[in-house]
Amino acid sequence: MSAVQEYIESNKEKFKEELFEILRIPSISTSSAHKQHVGKAADFLVDQLESLDLDRVTRFKTDGNPIVYGELTTDPEKPTVLVYGHYDVQPPDPEDLWDTPPFEPTVRNGDIYARGASDDKGQSFTHVKALESYIKSGTDFPVNIKYIFEGEEEVGSPNLVPFIKEHRELLECDMVLISDTAMFAEDTPSITYGLRGLAYMEVEVIGPNRDLHSGVYGGAVDNPANVLSEMIAQLRDEDGRIQIPGFYDAVKPLTEKEREAYRNLPFDEEEYKDKLGLKALNGEKGYSTLERASARPTLDVNGLWSGYQGEGAKTVLPSKAGAKISMRLVPDQDPKEIAKLFTEHIQSIAPETVTVEVTEHHGGHPSITDLSFYGLKAAGKAFEEVYQKEPLFAREGGSIPIVADFQKVLGAQSILMGFGLNSDAIHSPNEKFALKDFYRGIKTSAKFFELLPEYSE
Ligand code: BES
Ligand code: MN
Ligand code: MN
Repeated sequence: MSAVQEYIESNKEKFKEELFEILRIPSISTSSAHKQHVGKAADFLVDQLESLDLDRVTRFKTDGNPIVYGELTTDPEKPTVLVYGHYDVQPPDPEDLWDTPPFEPTVRNGDIYARGASDDKGQSFTHVKALESYIKSGTDFPVNIKYIFEGEEEVGSPNLVPFIKEHRELLECDMVLISDTAMFAEDTPSITYGLRGLAYMEVEVIGPNRDLHSGVYGGAVDNPANVLSEMIAQLRDEDGRIQIPGFYDAVKPLTEKEREAYRNLPFDEEEYKDKLGLKALNGEKGYSTLERASARPTLDVNGLWSGYQGEGAKTVLPSKAGAKISMRLVPDQDPKEIAKLFTEHIQSIAPETVTVEVTEHHGGHPSITDLSFYGLKAAGKAFEEVYQKEPLFAREGGSIPIVADFQKVLGAQSILMGFGLNSDAIHSPNEKFALKDFYRGIKTSAKFFELLPEYSE
């Protein structure tokens, strides 16, 4: 065994304890009350990088949360890898559904339970520990490395995009390495080569100037909750096709070759359904479950409010109703264009009995990595050596919008080397990350750096 792999083997307990330290920090970016904690998580990463004697470590201030940067140049002739990760997390709610508190990491059945365990503290930390294993075992690091950790991924990276535009030279690299996705299945290493984009909208329907007695006024005054439901129901037809004019115009159709690749992925639809406690699945007609969940665009209500939500029954005709609606996008849909089409369509179907206000939240572009890129091959080989299994190549339905910006602004492809699982319950109660994948992740990262120079020649 190499000194690097030996260092990893003998430091597992230490790595876990250190991960627990950052998992204990509630760095929730959506909540301004947690601003300090977000800063603490950034400090933790600064300390981590500083302990590795890099050439440079900087904590950049932004208009929002800090960006942590570090770099080590070993040989300008060698490839430079930019590691990206996010240290912010989603809110833990509903908190009462957690079996153990979200910010008190606990191991049960070989899984680490904590908010951020998989998304993305645990996964991104593997690349820090991989470098440490070289440095502390006295092994020359085989490539050049840069780290960029942000604290606003879960709120749409508003300050990272301007940052990379402003620091093109600083961030110059041959590729971006990201662990913020999932493996296709347990013990099934996977390289994600496509991600969906996002357009996130909010619709408010405003009716009478106050809540009304539904017996006194019901029937004569249009009910915003009824109107909103009817409008939402019109957004998709019975085949699951989205009814916004122009919505599909830029969608690149799946090629027969891609569809063939989808069919060859090891996927058990019955098990998928059972694990979610469902009797049946539903989606766009003419596409398989995997295609629907990663290669086709969607429209989903993410939140819906109106009227009386309390205990018992209150007869009321609400004055307002609202919905948060997101659309997952695929190449080459443009989030701004889709937001515009959505807004125009919603206004066009709104009855004159109400006023409708549409606002746009954050969005992001979809992305696809070129499968012939040498970095992907090195990543595939690293996975194979550690997991003793050839990795699958698959697209995923989630979004990491900055991947498209790295492509556009830095001209760099991203290698999405996910160590998580779809069953990790990211964004849900009881988020977890398998301890063994934390360790295999560190090993795979270290292996990747070792193999990369061979592949770049
Ligand atoms: N790590 C996820 C994205 C992800 C999850 C990709 C699973 C592939 C598989 C990321 O932290 C995330 O949650 N992204 C948001 C988008 C963002 C703009 C808020 C998402 O996908 O909802
Ligand atoms: Mn993430
Ligand atoms: Mn997330």
